[in-house]
Amino acid sequence: MTHQSERLTMLRNRWYPILPAHHLRRRPVGVKRLGQRLVVWRDAAGEPVVMPAFCPHRGADLSQGKVVAGQLACPWHGFRFAGDGRCTRMPCEGREARIPAAMSTRSLPARERYGLVWLWWGEAARATEEIPFFENLADPRGTADAARILPYHYSRMVETNLDIHHTPFVHGSVVPVGEEVADFEAHQEGDRILTSGVLKKPGKKTGMPFRDDFLLPCLNSIELTPRVRILVAATPVDDDHTWVWFRYHTEVTPFAWVRWVLSWLAIQSELRVVQQQDWRIFRAMQPGTLDDVPHHYVKADKGIALYRRLRRDLLEQQDASGARAAG
Ligand code: FES
Ligand SMILES: [Fe+2]
Repeated sequence: MTHQSERLTMLRNRWYPILPAHHLRRRPVGVKRLGQRLVVWRDAAGEPVVMPAFCPHRGADLSQGKVVAGQLACPWHGFRFAGDGRCTRMPCEGREARIPAAMSTRSLPARERYGLVWLWWGEAARATEEIPFFENLADPRGTADAARILPYHYSRMVETNLDIHHTPFVHGSVVPVGEEVADFEAHQEGDRILTSGVLKKPGKKTGMPFRDDFLLPCLNSIELTPRVRILVAATPVDDDHTWVWFRYHTEVTPFAWVRWVLSWLAIQSELRVVQQQDWRIFRAMQPGTLDDVPHHYVKADKGIALYRRLRRDLLEQQDASGARAAG
C-alpha cells in the first residue's frame, strides 16, 4: 500500500489491530486507521474483509451500505463488491452489463484473531506472517473492552502505556501506591520490551509489584496482579490521533460471565479514572511525536527509552530498504 499515510512513520510489514471482532456483525463498520478511511465487513464465510471506504463508482462511503448475500452493496447506487474487491453487479446497467475492471476496489490483508480484527500494513506478499501476541491474553472469553480515539500521535500513547511511575501522582486518590520504583528491570527481547518492578513508599520493604510489557508494533500487557491484566493497543488513526483500545482480563473465577461482569466494572472505573486524571495531563503536554521532542529519561523510564530506540532503529532500517528499493 502506498499512499499519503506513509508520512505517519509507522512500522511497515506488521499486523495492526483495528477493531474488536465482536463489533463486527452483520453490518459493515467504518473506521479510520493507519491514515485511511476503511470499511470492515464479514463475507459469506464470516471472515473479515477490509477495503478502502470509498466506492469506486462515485465515492460513497461503503460503510453506509449493507451486506447482501455475502457481498457488500454500496448505499448510493447498489453496486456490489465481493470479498476480493471485485465489482460483481451494477444494477443500473442491467444484468448483462460488462463490468469494467476499474469498477473493482481493493481488499486489504486482514484476519480475525484473539478477539480482534487485524490489518496488515506493508507488502501484501508478506501478510502470511503470524500475528505476534501475548500468549496469556489470547482468549477473549469473559473479558470486557473499550476504546477511545485520542488526539495524540501513537508513539506518545505507546510511551504512555509504558509509564507506570505516574500512578501515585496522577491516580493516588484511587490507587494509593508508593512513589518509589524499586527492583526495576527493563530489557528488550526481539520485538518485546519487558519491564517489571515494585511501586513502594520510601522506607517500606514491600509495595505493589507490576509487570508492563510491550510488543511491536503497538500492544501492551499491563499486569496489575497475576490475575488482573490489561491489554492495550495504540493503533495509529492518522498523524494526530490514536485508537486506544483496552481489554480487561480478570482470571479470578472459572465462570466466564462472572469474569465478564468483573472486567466490565473494572473498565468502567478505568475509563472514569483515565478521563478525569490522565487526560488532563495529556491535553496540556508538549505536542509532537517521539521523533521531534527530546526528552530526558531516568532509570524508571528505561522501557520508554528502549521503545524509542527500537522504533527509531526500525524506521531507519525501513527508510534504508525503501531507498535501496527505489535506487
Ligand atoms: S457511489 Fe457506490 S454505487 Fe454509486
Ligand atoms: Fe494513567
